[in-house]
Amino acid sequence: MSDRFYVTTPIYYVNDKPTIGTAYTTIAADVLARYFRLRGRRVHFLTGTDENAEKTVDAAEARGMDVKAHTDDMAEVFKKTWEILGLTHDDFIRTTEDRHILAAHRFLNRLEEAGDIYKGHYEGLYCKGCAAYLTPTELGDGGICPTHKTKPEEISEDNYFFRLSKYEKPLLDYYEANPDFVKPGTRYNEVVSFIRNGLKDISVTRPMKSWGMPYPTDPTQVVYVWIEALTNYISAIGYADSDDMEWWPADVHLIGKDIIRFHCVFWPAMLMSAGLPLPKQVFAHGFFTVDGQRMGKSLGNAVDPLYITENFGVDAMRYYLFAEFPFGSDGDFSFDSLKNRINHDLGNDLGNLLNRLLKMVSKYRGGVVPEAGAAADEDAALISAAKTLAGNIDDRFEKIEIGGVIEDIWLLIREANRYIDIVKPFSLAKDDSEKTQARLDAVLYNLVEALRITGTALAPLMPDTSRKICGALGCAPPDADILEALTWGTGASGAKTADRLILFPRIED
Ligand code: MSP
Repeated sequence: MSDRFYVTTPIYYVNDKPTIGTAYTTIAADVLARYFRLRGRRVHFLTGTDENAEKTVDAAEARGMDVKAHTDDMAEVFKKTWEILGLTHDDFIRTTEDRHILAAHRFLNRLEEAGDIYKGHYEGLYCKGCAAYLTPTELGDGGICPTHKTKPEEISEDNYFFRLSKYEKPLLDYYEANPDFVKPGTRYNEVVSFIRNGLKDISVTRPMKSWGMPYPTDPTQVVYVWIEALTNYISAIGYADSDDMEWWPADVHLIGKDIIRFHCVFWPAMLMSAGLPLPKQVFAHGFFTVDGQRMGKSLGNAVDPLYITENFGVDAMRYYLFAEFPFGSDGDFSFDSLKNRINHDLGNDLGNLLNRLLKMVSKYRGGVVPEAGAAADEDAALISAAKTLAGNIDDRFEKIEIGGVIEDIWLLIREANRYIDIVKPFSLAKDDSEKTQARLDAVLYNLVEALRITGTALAPLMPDTSRKICGALGCAPPDADILEALTWGTGASGAKTADRLILFPRIED
């Protein structure tokens, strides 16, 4: 395990405010960043905004605003939203910042020096919404862009091109030597077969209109927005000044599956051309629909993460996003399934368990965690579930299986609920004999320990809930090595517990 961890999200277009979709990737990066910090790694978590696209101009015009003023405003909207969601990024890059422009220019100079840029002519289709060149085979019925449902522009223009075709073989060799470069495996296979089908050179500039990053050696052109946007991952960490960047290569670029080609083909080829190492991994998660429909501004069904936060809480949203959709697969977002998860998994499984336990410790032991006792046979399943959790989730986090982390934690929660049903602490409480009371001590200790470990394991995923659980059990949430805090038996007897706590009040329809 390396001692550092550099995680990035896509930088988001500023034609719209954040949605639950863009929040999804950013929260995923936050979960990983929080976990690896708690594993003692030095973490750098980068997100930001992609501001030079043509659609930025349209969005500004629609608001009757100057383009620069619009981008400044939208960048603040993104920053504020991530702040309200409590995200812990270390840096926020905007592609209109000098550090980005200088780095992108330096990067393009390297490609020129490598002999990989030439002037040519492009004729074909361009979708403004995708900010991408499309081929006729990628269009849906009626020749429209399947994502934006609009007809792409037919363009005929002089562009500078990047010799992507030169990197077909180097990329295939790299993929063969690095089977974990793109995850999940299905995406890796998709990319490899895309490259095997042959790579054509790509445009790196477009004619200058009114907005965009000027091309360094020919100001009649702007840098094609995707080309400069990709360089954000290095411009934010000092590429303008030097190739020798503390944080490069990134440990993982988190992206949605919609932007695989840019990250898994174009970006690695350009890095090769510039003589820089490739990111260690690109992880492409799935896409979710809303009530079965593609989510989008034009469809008017974009779900606002702030609305969910205000109405259901940040942690419930964080939980739902990773419990409902295995990270890497597609899924469908709905308020019904959100409420169901809150009431069932969070309210019943976890919340009721904690509250029941707090009431028992309060009633039978005056709110003080009793001494551990000798283990009985019926304790074995609970203790084993708690003891294996640390290793299991560590493995899941290394593999970026965030949904798997939840599954593992809920195995312990279910085991604790089952334990109460089996050992029946309320029956033990009725028998005053010393032996039974010592047994009750042991049972309550075991349950407190199981819940302390649950609360600890939830720290990267549901930080506020983790603090609440640990606080109610009289212990501190993890702040140093989480694996140590997850060790069975390290919870202190004598800690003072809360009398009761409702973590997730029931949501009525
Ligand atoms: N600006 C480019 C990215 C440049 S990165 C160098 C871009 N921006 S975007 O605003 O359109 O954001 C796309 C990303 O938002 C997706 O890759 C994904 O991370 C996230 N998502 C947007 N909608 C989503 C869903 N419906 N489902 C899951 N993720 C979603 O593309």
